[in-house]
Amino acid sequence: MSETDKLQEKQKLPIGFMDSGLGGLSVLREAVKLMPKEDFIYYGDSLHAPYGVKPQAEIRELTFAVVKKLLDMGIKGLAVACNTATSAAVTESHGGRILVMATPMTLKQEKFQNLLAKYREQADIVPVQCDGLMEFVEHGDLDGQELDDYFAEKLSPVLTDDTESIVLGCTHYPFLKKELRHFLGDRDIHLIDGSLGTSRELMRRLKVQGLLRTDDHKGKVRIMNSSGRQELIDLSLKLLNLPDYE
Ligand code: DGL
Repeated sequence: MSETDKLQEKQKLPIGFMDSGLGGLSVLREAVKLMPKEDFIYYGDSLHAPYGVKPQAEIRELTFAVVKKLLDMGIKGLAVACNTATSAAVTESHGGRILVMATPMTLKQEKFQNLLAKYREQADIVPVQCDGLMEFVEHGDLDGQELDDYFAEKLSPVLTDDTESIVLGCTHYPFLKKELRHFLGDRDIHLIDGSLGTSRELMRRLKVQGLLRTDDHKGKVRIMNSSGRQELIDLSLKLLNLPDYE
């Protein structure tokens, strides 16, 4: 087989996505819009969710196991759609307060701590540990009083008049945006999530390697979940909300 044939074969492979559960679907949702010709396999490890409160070694082990599964199935690229980077948002600051909502593990990470140290002078960055929040998405509870009460408990103590943005530092949180807006009322606060940025970067990297499909294929999305529960697959499809996809 010639090099060109090999590359063309590889272009036909799906792109893998993984997350501790359903959160990475917020990133996948953007990726399918950007790359409609591509096939995707999404693996949600809901059986072991949440990752964000587990020790690092255990998260690594769980992640590697899922990555191996996806590689064995044959993929041409992989997005680990978990613990989204928040640096872009922080560099956009206008001097006001920025709340960073994320899992305890993300906030503990060196990467985040370095970011905090780097921009401490420019912005008032306040980490908000949101243990228990991803569970709302995993249960399909995207609105309601209980969620509002959660936001009140976590955000009211740190929301100031000069709060300019809230970073949704976990891929589950974009699904809760509507209720968060409702909770914030008429406050002019920018909600920042990294899903589009992550998808654009994924596309850029595949393009550089010549791995994007160039044929007229209509992309498909396959959802897998370690829990083996059909209702989680159904909920995943509902969250993705892509009527044109199978
Ligand atoms: N969706 C994951 C993230 O982006 C976290 C959820 C979890 O705790 O497993 O951080």
